[in-house]
Amino acid sequence: MNEASLQWGGRFRSAPDPALLAFGSSFEEDLLLARFDLETSRAHVRALMGGGVISQDTAATLERALDRVAAEIDDGSFAIWARKGAFEDIHGAIDARVRELDAEAGGWLHAGRSRNDQVATTLSLYAAARARDGMARVTTIAIALVARARNALAEGSVLAGTTHGQPAQPILLAFWLQAAAEPFVRGARRFASVAKEAMEAMPLGSGALAGSCLPLDRHAAARYLGFARPSRNALDAVGTRDALFACADAWATSCVPASRIAAEIVHWASPLLGYVRIGDASASGSSLMPQKRNPDIFELVRAGTQRVLGDARTAWSASAPLGLSYHRDLQESKQSAIAAIERAESILEAFARAFADLEFDVVEMERRATLGYTLATDLADALILHGLDARRAHRLAGERVALAEEQGRPFDASDLRALGTQVGVEALEAPLDARAGVRAKATDGSTSPEAVADALDELEKELFVLAGAV
Ligand code: ARG
Repeated sequence: MNEASLQWGGRFRSAPDPALLAFGSSFEEDLLLARFDLETSRAHVRALMGGGVISQDTAATLERALDRVAAEIDDGSFAIWARKGAFEDIHGAIDARVRELDAEAGGWLHAGRSRNDQVATTLSLYAAARARDGMARVTTIAIALVARARNALAEGSVLAGTTHGQPAQPILLAFWLQAAAEPFVRGARRFASVAKEAMEAMPLGSGALAGSCLPLDRHAAARYLGFARPSRNALDAVGTRDALFACADAWATSCVPASRIAAEIVHWASPLLGYVRIGDASASGSSLMPQKRNPDIFELVRAGTQRVLGDARTAWSASAPLGLSYHRDLQESKQSAIAAIERAESILEAFARAFADLEFDVVEMERRATLGYTLATDLADALILHGLDARRAHRLAGERVALAEEQGRPFDASDLRALGTQVGVEALEAPLDARAGVRAKATDGSTSPEAVADALDELEKELFVLAGAV
């Protein structure tokens, strides 16, 4: 009989069906939890020793066995060993290996512990670490976007900003890049809050659901792992995956801005527009059409984001029908959450690499910046500044759009003279080119070069703090 058949002890007379054991195993996906689970075991050794349940000698022996398993995990031999048995999860596998290394001391490792409090603790540690990784990841992306915004600001590059996908008003490219950076900063804040939540209450010592009769030193364990305190309700602690799911949410929602930028890049990369050139390192060709230069990575970022959003949602949903306490369903939802986190990381990594490989064609952008009469609002604003009410100003500027369109020309000095007579000046002072249009913006947070420079200063300050906090 192998370990798996023995693990339930005396209550069972025969081994489980290997097919069902395989069906119920998350061992392969759990491998990335191994180093966190070892920490959980080291903490439990401290709890056992601190409470006088095991001697210092036994604790030292267990520590040495755990060191050895750690080395085997690092060199890959642990996984090979574990695959020869049949384990439901990493927790059982590590415990079995410790017992194999030292049967005497190993028999004490699981005293007062259930896999329920063990998996909950290990997942909290994983969630905290991955939240910190996420924070570093989105902060790095935001820093890169801000650096590109600085360059674009120095050049004063403009383009037609859109709403509804239609030309709306000229904006600075730097303003667009700053807009792209902002949601990643918000993402970093969410990661920071998840990292804190994950390390708030330590489940270890909760046993299966009711706590333990053994005098476990939970404070020593919490101190060792870096939790703020032991959890205060064992039933809640073993049944909760909130921090893990919040971590999956933070990762998945951090892909959303990447996806939205990717959507815009896919559009911009078309030769019909020609705003960006996708570098050779990140573009794909076509097996049939020799001229093609496709933005595949950005398309995959878009689609991948939908997948990770789904996985993160599935994790929460799978736990919603459950009563309090541990249910095996939580193994399934753990897998969805981990899948979301790990895939989201590769999405953000690919996004950052492909974005760095983009070249903006600022000449092409500027050439199209006033197409579609994007300065009409500035014209109306100029009329309002001369005392016209907004409705009249809108109508008069709209009439000039209709006329210029009919005549097949852009706005010109004739429009300014005509509108000037409406307000009693020789010619209206209003921008006729995109750069003048962005310069004319007077509000904080606008696309004016001064406002964008101020905003970038503020953003950089926050990023500096966030980068230091990682
Ligand atoms: N394999 C389980 C999971 O990942 C951990 C063990 C939970 N306890 C149990 N009684 N099956 O959620």
